[in-house]
Amino acid sequence: MTEAKLEALLKESRSFPPSAAFAANANAQPSIYAEAAADPQAWWRTQADRLTWEHAPTTTLEWDLPFAKWFSDGTINASVNCLDRHVAAGKGDKVAYYWVSDIEGESRTITYRELLAMVAKAANAFTELGVKRGDRVAVYLPMIPETVVTMLAIARIGAIHSVVFAGFSADALSSRILDSDCQYVVTADAAMRRGTPSPLKPAVDEALQSCPNVKTVVVVKRTGADINWVEGRDHWWDDVMAPQSDQHTPEFFPAEQTLLIMYTSGTTAKPKGIFHTTGGYLTHCAATYHYIFDHKVDTDIMWTAADIGWITGHSYIVYGPLVAGATQVMYEGLPDSGGRDRWWKIIEEFKVTKLYTAPTTIRTLMKWGDDLPASHDLSSLVLLGTVGEPINPEAWMWYRKNVGRDNCPIVDTWWQTETGGIMVTPLPGITATKPGAAMTPFPGISVDVVDNEGHSVGNGEGGYLVVTAPWPGMTRGIYGDPERFKATYWERFPGMYFAGDGAKRDPDGDIWLLGRIDDVMNISGHRLSTTEVEHALVGHPMVAEAAVVGASDETTGQAIVAFVTLKLSAEQATQDQAPLIEELRQHVAKTISPIAKPRQIILTPDLPKTRSGKIMRRLLRDVAEHRTLGDVTTLTDPTVVNMIAGLLETNGSED
Ligand code: PRX
Repeated sequence: MTEAKLEALLKESRSFPPSAAFAANANAQPSIYAEAAADPQAWWRTQADRLTWEHAPTTTLEWDLPFAKWFSDGTINASVNCLDRHVAAGKGDKVAYYWVSDIEGESRTITYRELLAMVAKAANAFTELGVKRGDRVAVYLPMIPETVVTMLAIARIGAIHSVVFAGFSADALSSRILDSDCQYVVTADAAMRRGTPSPLKPAVDEALQSCPNVKTVVVVKRTGADINWVEGRDHWWDDVMAPQSDQHTPEFFPAEQTLLIMYTSGTTAKPKGIFHTTGGYLTHCAATYHYIFDHKVDTDIMWTAADIGWITGHSYIVYGPLVAGATQVMYEGLPDSGGRDRWWKIIEEFKVTKLYTAPTTIRTLMKWGDDLPASHDLSSLVLLGTVGEPINPEAWMWYRKNVGRDNCPIVDTWWQTETGGIMVTPLPGITATKPGAAMTPFPGISVDVVDNEGHSVGNGEGGYLVVTAPWPGMTRGIYGDPERFKATYWERFPGMYFAGDGAKRDPDGDIWLLGRIDDVMNISGHRLSTTEVEHALVGHPMVAEAAVVGASDETTGQAIVAFVTLKLSAEQATQDQAPLIEELRQHVAKTISPIAKPRQIILTPDLPKTRSGKIMRRLLRDVAEHRTLGDVTTLTDPTVVNMIAGLLETNGSED
C-alpha cells in the first residue's frame, strides 16, 4: 500500500436489495445507467425537458475548463417552473407545503395557487422597493413559508438570493453581505425555537453597521418580539405586501442567469460564495428528485428535514420538489420541540412518505431510544434518505429498522454545495444498498477515486473522490473570485474536480465516503480515515457518538485521539470508566486493525459541531494537541470545546 492511498479497513458485508414491488414501480429502471452512459450530455438534455422553457435550448454543454455553460441559449424563469405551470395545468389546489410550526398543533396548508399569489405579491413588492435583475438580496430567515416566497420572488424578477442560515452570527452575516455586495436584506423579528423567540433582527442591525450599501430591510413578523426599528430602512413584510397585486407577469432569462449564491459552511478559512445558475441547476435538481426520491406526484408527502439556509434546503425543499409539483412537509422546529417524539408525530399526522435528513440527526434520534418511533404509526414511509456526512453502519441499520420498518430503501446521497444536486447515490428501485455506502454515481455523472497522482485506484482501495466530467448543476464558480475557484477545486488533479473528500472502492467497486481529506490521519505511515475509526467506535453498544482526530505524536507521526459520548444510565455514569475506555480501544483494534487503536479516548457529554451539524475536528485537534483554540464562531455551543479541553487533563487514557 503506497502512502498516497487511504487504507480501507472497515469491512461490511450486509446488502439490502429493494423489494420486488418497489423495484417494479420505480421511476428509475436498470436500463437508466446504460442510457445515460451512452451519451451523458444528450441524456441531460432530455432531463432538461422536465422544465418549462420559453425558448427550449438548442445547445447542451459549452466547456472551457473549469467554466461550464449548460443549455445556454434556452430562456427560463425558475419561479414559473415551480409555480405557474402547475397552476396552469389545473394543479392549483394541490398542497405545496404543510408548514408545521415549532409549536405543537400549529400548522399552515399552502396550495400551489396560494403560493403563486404570495410570490407574485412579493415580486411586485421587491420590484417597487427597487430590486432589479442581477441584484443580490440577502435572506436571513427561519423555516417559515415566507422564506420560500422570498426566494421564489427574487428568482422571478431575475435577482439573486443569498440565503444565510439564520443561526449565523452578525459577523458571519455581514461578511456574506459584503462579499457579494447585497443591497437588500429580508429577515424576521425572531425565529421560534422550542416555543421561545430567538432574536434575528438584532443580528441584522448589528451586521448592517458595517454594510453601508444596504438601504432596505424587509422584516417578517414571526413572533411579535420587540425589535429596534430604523425608519426609512426597515419595512414590515405585511405592509409592503398588502397593497400589491397577486398577479405578476414574469420575464424569462437566459439559462446561465445566476439564480443563487450559497456560502459554504466551511469550518476553515473565509467562506466561499458558491454560485449556481438557472437552467442547469434546475435540471439537476429535477432529475435527481425524480429518480432518487422516486417521486410519485399523486401520493407523495416529502419531508426534507433540513434547513433552507443550506444547499439541501435549496435543492430539495424548494427547487427540486416544487419543479416536480410535489406536496411537502416543511418543519420549523427542532427535533425535540414539544417533545422527543415530535418527528414521529409529524410523520404520523401528515402521512409522510419520504424522509430525507442528516446522519447527525439520526444519531440524536437514536440516542433518544427505540420506543419513541415504535410508539407511532410510521407505516406511511416508503423511502428514507441521508445527506451531509458519512453515515455509520449502526445508524444506517437503526434508521432502516426503527424508522423504515425494514421495508424502505435508504438512499445515502453524497453531494456538496458546489455540486448543486446529488452526485453519488443508490437508486432506490435498483441498488442493493450497503449500510454506510453512497454506492454509485447518479446516471450522467462521472466520478472516480484516485491516488496522489490522479490514477484510478483499484477495488478494495482508498483515495480521493473526483468528478471527471462537467455536470449541469455544477457551481459556475466562487462569486467574484475565479482564481480561488480554480485553485481550490481544479488544480490538485488537472482536468478533474477535486471534492476534498476521501473515498474508497470496495471489492465490488462501490463507493464509500471517508470524510474530508483534511481529516485524514497518518499513523506510522498508514493513512487512516477518521470516519472508519468513528464508525468502529459507534459500533460499540455503549457509544452514542464519536469524533476522531489525529494529534501529533513523537513516535508515530500522528496518533489517534477519540472523543466519545456514551449512552449511560445514571448509575453507570458514576462508575469508574477506565475499564470501558480500555474495552473501546480493544474494540477498535479488533474491528479495524491494531494500528487504528486510539492512543487516547476522552469521554465527553457532547461534541462541538458547526451549525450545520458537522463535527469540528479542527477544534478537537487543537484540544488534543493542547493548542490555543481556533475560531469558534460557527459552533452551536462554544462552551463544549472548553469543557472538552478541561476533560483532557482529567479523564484521558494515555499509554
Ligand atoms: O464531506 C462531504 C459531506 O459534506 C460535504 C459537503 O458539505 P455541504 O457543502 O455543506 O453540503 C452538504 C449537503 C449536500 C461533502 O464534501 N457529505 C455530504 N453528503 C455526504 C457526505 N459525506 C459522506 N456521505 C454523504 N452522503
